[in-house]
Amino acid sequence: MCGIFGYVGERKDAGRLVVDGLKCLEYRGYDSWGVACKEEDDHLVIEKKIGKISDVKSSAFLEKCSIAVGHTRWATHGGVTEENAHPHTNEDGSIAVVHNGIVENYQELRDGLLARGHTFLSETDTEVLPHLLEEELKKTNDFASAVRLVSQKIVGRYAFLALHTDSNVLVAARNGSPLIVGVGSDGYFIASDIPAFLDSTRTVQYLDDGEMVVTDGHSILFSDLATGEEHPKREIEITWSVEQAEKGEYQHYMLKEIMEQKDTIVRAVNQDDKETRTIAEAIRSARGTFLVGCGTAHKACMAAEYFFSVIAGHHVNVSSAGEFKLYHHFLKPESLLIVVSQSGETADVLEAMKIAKSKRAKVLAIVNVEGSTIDREADYSLLINAGPERAVASTKALTGQMAVLLLIAHALARKLHDGKTQLLEAGSMINDMLNPRYVERLEKLAEKIKHREDLYIIGKSWNYPMALESAIKIQEVSNIHAEGFAGGELKHGPIALIEEGTPCIALIGKDEVTGDILSNATEIKARGGFIIGVSPENNPIFDEWIKVPDAAAAQPLVNIIPIQILAYYLAVQRGKDPDMPRNLAKSVTVK
Ligand code: G6P
Repeated sequence: MCGIFGYVGERKDAGRLVVDGLKCLEYRGYDSWGVACKEEDDHLVIEKKIGKISDVKSSAFLEKCSIAVGHTRWATHGGVTEENAHPHTNEDGSIAVVHNGIVENYQELRDGLLARGHTFLSETDTEVLPHLLEEELKKTNDFASAVRLVSQKIVGRYAFLALHTDSNVLVAARNGSPLIVGVGSDGYFIASDIPAFLDSTRTVQYLDDGEMVVTDGHSILFSDLATGEEHPKREIEITWSVEQAEKGEYQHYMLKEIMEQKDTIVRAVNQDDKETRTIAEAIRSARGTFLVGCGTAHKACMAAEYFFSVIAGHHVNVSSAGEFKLYHHFLKPESLLIVVSQSGETADVLEAMKIAKSKRAKVLAIVNVEGSTIDREADYSLLINAGPERAVASTKALTGQMAVLLLIAHALARKLHDGKTQLLEAGSMINDMLNPRYVERLEKLAEKIKHREDLYIIGKSWNYPMALESAIKIQEVSNIHAEGFAGGELKHGPIALIEEGTPCIALIGKDEVTGDILSNATEIKARGGFIIGVSPENNPIFDEWIKVPDAAAAQPLVNIIPIQILAYYLAVQRGKDPDMPRNLAKSVTVK
């Protein structure tokens, strides 16, 4: 959460570059933004505003600076105010810092700084950094050394970028939050994520935890934060293109990414057979397999529990990554942790990996972002190849994750070929579903229910996790109160919430639980509920039927598609921005 971005080099429009780059990082936070540019006369010009940086005209940033840093915020410490927006500076405005993460011991550091005469303008934890840098700079007379010494004083997961009026360098430190260097032809970029500089370069160098980097735009030096020892880095070419990361003809990224599922399933399924079988063997021989993720990725893990059980007769333990600690007693060196993450940077997932590694268990990652921390730190890694996902609400990443997990379940059952065929068929079904008439049908359904304040979704078996995922999708983008339940749980409480006309979506497949879930829907109908059946077959109890193909074990992948479209239109018709849901951010790098 929070996007940070800086540039130093020969270009004279660093401020404009940083503003444009931050617009590509806005999914990480959009409460407020700010930029610090070091102008040619060596003074810092700082601009901060509440609101979204996408609303800002970058041309307002004049062409007279070649070093700048910027930030787009998701508030943790202190409300959404201009004072709390980054960059933060010391009293004389000679040092500017942008920061992602949390300085956990900031209160203690702040008390010390106050006692030594420093004054603070914001309520943030970040503001201690420029003041501490000023103190260390006085002692060492070297800005990079000051950054190293300050990093040793702070506790927490962080990444920050700093600049100083007396030196022409950009300095960055990383401990727990992502930072990537873009190697340009005329300078260096340092950002929380690659899209910030994708239109300038595709050559990157990754910082690891406990490292810092110093660059004057001509050369760059990576070193250990604790010892100062130089760390040579490889340059890596990334495959994502600018077009993939842009909205193109679509009004919102969310709709673009929903439509991309026409081919992302096929891309996810296109895994190396030998590697998939090796992973299946690792699961078979593991003494305990655990699956974790957060949010939507956690729902993919829940679906996988059914895939592994039904297809391969294999038991796995599923947990939200943030709750994984509960399992640490059961981890052995022979255990396997499978982590699922779109961004590859989610703090709770990284924490779960740390727990597993402390027990010497192996970690398999299923990620979208190549080169992300989770991708690099796992023992084995499979990419879902969905391309950049920019909308906060995850869509194509979910179906890609489920496709890979379903493929592995088939490999575990020694039916990899059948699994591939089934998934490719599901991919082609989704391609057919995503036609303008189908989308329009869901747009019309959204019109009918957009004024309702409560909505329920039920599912059974592998459609149960999709009921939970449907609720997340509808809540986050449309802000309608939506809840998902296992069909059978309804009469243990939630049915009390059903009133005349309450919309209730039933996610149905053609399988052994079809009769049960239809009965649950009938019970809701008997209490006045308005039943929306997402099902391969129509049924007289449906007030609305959203037809989906019969996709066997891939049913959760096809059933979630109409819900994603419905959620999108509910948001748009209620006047919400589906790409930037209230209070949320993508890439949750704080626990
Ligand atoms: C955030 C995003 C969700 C995502 C979750 C996990 O909450 O808004 O869309 O599912 O984080 O993120 P990850 O990148 O680990 O899949």
